Amino acid sequence: MKDIIISPSLLSLGNNEKKIIENINEISKYGAKWVHVDIMDGAFVSKTTYDHTLFSKFAHAHSLINDVHIMVHNPKEVAKDYCNSGADYLTFHLEACKDDDEALETIRIIKDSGVNVGMSINPNTPVERILPFVKFLDLVLIMSVVPGEGGQLFIKDTLEKIKVVKNYISTNNLNTLIEVDGGINDITGQECKNAGVDILVVGSFIFNNNIEESMEKLLK
Ligand code: DX5
Ligand code: ZN
Repeated sequence: MKDIIISPSLLSLGNNEKKIIENINEISKYGAKWVHVDIMDGAFVSKTTYDHTLFSKFAHAHSLINDVHIMVHNPKEVAKDYCNSGADYLTFHLEACKDDDEALETIRIIKDSGVNVGMSINPNTPVERILPFVKFLDLVLIMSVVPGEGGQLFIKDTLEKIKVVKNYISTNNLNTLIEVDGGINDITGQECKNAGVDILVVGSFIFNNNIEESMEKLLK
């Protein structure tokens, strides 16, 4: 089995650049190779975070993979801003696109910028909706909570969705990575690993606890 990748979510740290950089240094010390940057526009989800301007200020202040998750209504319009600001992976929501053609266009914009592309689906979107796109994607992000807030409970049905995507990837000999986001701790994280996940996005479990101990439990 491949080593699990932990992508700590900075969401709970707010928009203080210094605090963000200090915490990125901490997670790096304890084995994180990726960092998950949540962008919310107050429209696709009710909360608003910072945008690419603050992201660009810390994107190059570390050597982790910048895993950017945009929960925004108009991914096609803003994708380039994040690609040019330092995203290594840029993940947008299928639900945020007006139709499948717009989703394909967004994929193309990200790929043409030389950035790895991810697509995400919400808990109430059937997993079959994402399968036709998987061959064009570097990453599939399966939301295990309704996006918008940290600290929610993991939705169990997610495990079945992970297995369906994993099976599709193996059957079609693809290299697409599977990521899960929301309500991940050492127990739900282990269940997701068993189901075939490559990357665990983890917010509260890391930043509301002792960072070293939480990272150690997740990497086990
Ligand atoms: C939720 C965000 C998550 C969030 C996860 O909409 O996409 O990345 O920060 O936080 P936890 O791990 O607390 O559920
Ligand atoms: Zn996220």
